[in-house]
Amino acid sequence: MINLAKIDGNFYRKDIISLSQFNLSDLYSLFAKVDDMRKIAQNAKPSDILAGKIVVLLFFEPSSRTMGSFDAAVKQLGGQTIAMANPQEFSSVVKGESFTDTIKVFEAYSDAIVIRHPEKGKAQEAAKIAGSIPVINAGDGIGEHPTQALLDLFTIWDKNKRLNKITGLIAGDIKNGRTVHSLLRGLSLFKNNLIYLLAPETLKLDGQEKARLQKTGIKLKEIERVEDIPKNCDFWYWTRVQKERFKSESEYQKVNNKFIVDKKLLNKYGNKNLILMHPLPRVGEIKEEVDSDSRAVYLTSEVRNGMYVRMALLDLVLNAK
Ligand code: NCD
Repeated sequence: MINLAKIDGNFYRKDIISLSQFNLSDLYSLFAKVDDMRKIAQNAKPSDILAGKIVVLLFFEPSSRTMGSFDAAVKQLGGQTIAMANPQEFSSVVKGESFTDTIKVFEAYSDAIVIRHPEKGKAQEAAKIAGSIPVINAGDGIGEHPTQALLDLFTIWDKNKRLNKITGLIAGDIKNGRTVHSLLRGLSLFKNNLIYLLAPETLKLDGQEKARLQKTGIKLKEIERVEDIPKNCDFWYWTRVQKERFKSESEYQKVNNKFIVDKKLLNKYGNKNLILMHPLPRVGEIKEEVDSDSRAVYLTSEVRNGMYVRMALLDLVLNAK
């Protein structure tokens, strides 16, 4: 269990590594700010909220959305970015530079580092190395992806105006999906939530994490067949099987795309009011024919909310209130 500084009402200069740092009122103050950010993003006038700030985006693992979303968020607020995709291929890391040195160097250039890394725990390690500036975890291996969960929570909240008494379905790779791990931690802060977890046997939630979450009061129900999806879900959260976490292609193929959302499945097992979410990228687990359904938000509001939530978080972390 990682021991990280709780936000506890004060985001300023804190590292954002795990959803476990947040309490209810932290989430609500972030959400309140998201509304302001939505207005700023929709306004033609430039904002200077992050003027003079430089944010480094260090992505040791492929990303288009998260990196683009952070980049856009900084720029929407008048700040600047140094974006390094795959530094292990394109930077001094190729010459043998250590992780510590890379982080130290970028710490010296910038006001914050956003990091993605294939290894669990690496964002926290970066935070320890870069002691003078905040570090934001943009995905650490199969660990967590807090900003994705914040935008997912916001998306559910925006639709329902509540995050308690929620019935939801999370499907796909529950074992390896870091966005799922962070989302479950977020949902477990609220009362009376019931989450169905639809996954093949080998991709179920880690037993220890399941027990830890259940202690908070969240109800988790594991299912293995689409026939067991309850009709009263407020959201469906579909995920891809995390190919890069498998030892071989054949191991991956054994479990890939067991559950695919098409129009028929959505209409048969989903109700009229749910929202269908996905952190993206999707690789076949939601059919394109579903995109035009008004319940599908993964290419529309969920993505936009990603930028607004990151704008809000950056403002809270980088500016004293
Ligand atoms: C997710 C990730 O990287 O964990 N993508 C994202 O950031 N939106 C989900 C995934 O890769 O499946």
